[in-house]
Amino acid sequence: METSTPPFFFALVLLTLTSVTLIASSSPFSNSTTDQDALLAFKNTTKLDPDSILISNWSTNASICSWTGVSCSLAYQRVTALNFSGFLLHGTISAHLGNLTFLQSLDKSSNNFTGSIPSELSNIQMLQTLNLASNQLEGGLPSGVFTNISALVEINLRSNNLSGELPSDICSNTPKLKRLHLSGNKIVGKIPKSICKCREMEDLRISSNKLTGNIPTEIGNLTKLTYLSMFSNHLEGEIPSSVFNISSLEFVYLGDNILTRSVPIFNSLTRL
Ligand SMILES: *[C@@H]1O[C@H](CO)[C@@H](O)[C@H](O)[C@H]1NC(C)=O
Ligand SMILES: *[C@@H]1O[C@H](CO)[C@@H](O)[C@H](O)[C@H]1NC(C)=O
Ligand SMILES: *[C@@H]1O[C@H](CO)[C@@H](O)[C@H](O)[C@H]1NC(C)=O
Ligand SMILES: *[C@@H]1O[C@H](CO)[C@@H](O)[C@H](O)[C@H]1NC(C)=O
Ligand SMILES: *[C@@H]1O[C@H](CO)[C@@H](O)[C@H](O)[C@H]1NC(C)=O
Ligand SMILES: *[C@@H]1O[C@H](CO)[C@@H](O)[C@H](O)[C@H]1NC(C)=O
Ligand SMILES: *[C@@H]1O[C@H](CO)[C@@H](O)[C@H](O)[C@H]1NC(C)=O
Ligand SMILES: *[C@@H]1O[C@H](CO)[C@@H](O)[C@H](O)[C@H]1NC(C)=O
Ligand SMILES: *[C@@H]1O[C@H](CO)[C@@H](O)[C@H](O)[C@H]1NC(C)=O
Ligand SMILES: *[C@@H]1O[C@H](CO)[C@@H](O)[C@H](O)[C@H]1NC(C)=O
Ligand SMILES: *[C@@H]1O[C@H](CO)[C@@H](O)[C@H](O)[C@H]1NC(C)=O
Repeated sequence: METSTPPFFFALVLLTLTSVTLIASSSPFSNSTTDQDALLAFKNTTKLDPDSILISNWSTNASICSWTGVSCSLAYQRVTALNFSGFLLHGTISAHLGNLTFLQSLDKSSNNFTGSIPSELSNIQMLQTLNLASNQLEGGLPSGVFTNISALVEINLRSNNLSGELPSDICSNTPKLKRLHLSGNKIVGKIPKSICKCREMEDLRISSNKLTGNIPTEIGNLTKLTYLSMFSNHLEGEIPSSVFNISSLEFVYLGDNILTRSVPIFNSLTRL
């Protein structure tokens, strides 16, 4: 016992490692070459139809900023947005995208991407929009994305094949999140109480999953909610009366669960 290493030693090692990682992945050491490497690696893991115009457009000879779907900041030629929505792409989502330090918007919705969502995406500290909806992604939700990117305004992972639970500390560090769409996956477990920390939330959709347990009373603290969709899960218990206190609410879909109602239905909330 006397010879065991004091806990603060481990804390110190951990702290040092964390700092090194932070420095290695932070902006002063990245430049437009980093962005180019990241996009070329992405192209490498993306499969194009043989007759896709992107085969010539995404030429390694040209600047990545001239590629269709890529937007760059004019001043520094850094990648700020990627929009490959509906490009008929398949392949995996490259972990290298996590190196795009200045990326604010990533939209790869409506393609055929497979595999899991790389945890490296949580390195993109400026990310405001993440839309990977309507693909065939599987595996768990990338918890770091949900807890470590405070700039996020919109997360859309609807219509995939994602499993696992919602992160228990969801919303603990995403104060600007307005839209969270996770419907049409295979998410299990309970709805964490911490979801009420997303005070700006306007649009919350988690229908058609395998969620269980009660709807947390704390949902009533989302006072800016206009759209709430939780139908087709295995939710049970009473619909918390706090839900009926949200005056901004316009659409509520809670059907196809095992819920009971203990309060009168208000005219404005007829879509239960
Ligand atoms: C980016 O940084 C690397 C070293 O980290 C350097 O080799 C490269 O020339 C730089 N590129 C630009 C465009 O500044
Ligand atoms: C692309 O993949 C090939 C092998 O499939 C590899 O040799 C090459 O280094 C990769 N290029 C980039 C930019 O990752
Ligand atoms: C790719 O297409 C865009 C327009 O869709 C064009 O502006 C750009 O020059 C093309 N880039 C290359 C490398 O062909
Ligand atoms: C890149 O440019 C070289 C010559 O400048 C050319 O031979 C090659 O075919 C080009 N590659 C692509 C992918 O356009
Ligand atoms: C991406 O492009 C599609 C179609 O061009 C558009 O509807 C969508 O709003 C764009 N996504 C973002 C995040 O701007
Ligand atoms: C995705 O792949 C399936 C078959 O594997 C195909 O039917 C579907 O059209 C593809 N969707 C897109 C958007 O490419
Ligand atoms: C980019 O990310 C990959 C995978 O996350 C990593 O292995 C690589 O070292 C990074 N490259 C740069 C230039 O930061
Ligand atoms: C989130 O950030 C915290 C603190 O910076 C770090 O300890 C943790 O590993 C990060 N989690 C993920 C999944 O990136
Ligand atoms: C979803 O994942 C399951 C395995 O967990 C697999 O059997 C099924 O084919 C997948 N569905 C799609 C649409 O990818
Ligand atoms: C919900 O809001 C009330 C005030 O409106 C506050 O007292 C309570 O602590 C909040 N609950 C949580 C879990 O944040
Ligand atoms: C509804 O709101 C009122 C006033 O803000 C508050 O007093 C009451 O406790 C709330 N009821 C529920 C069930 O949250």
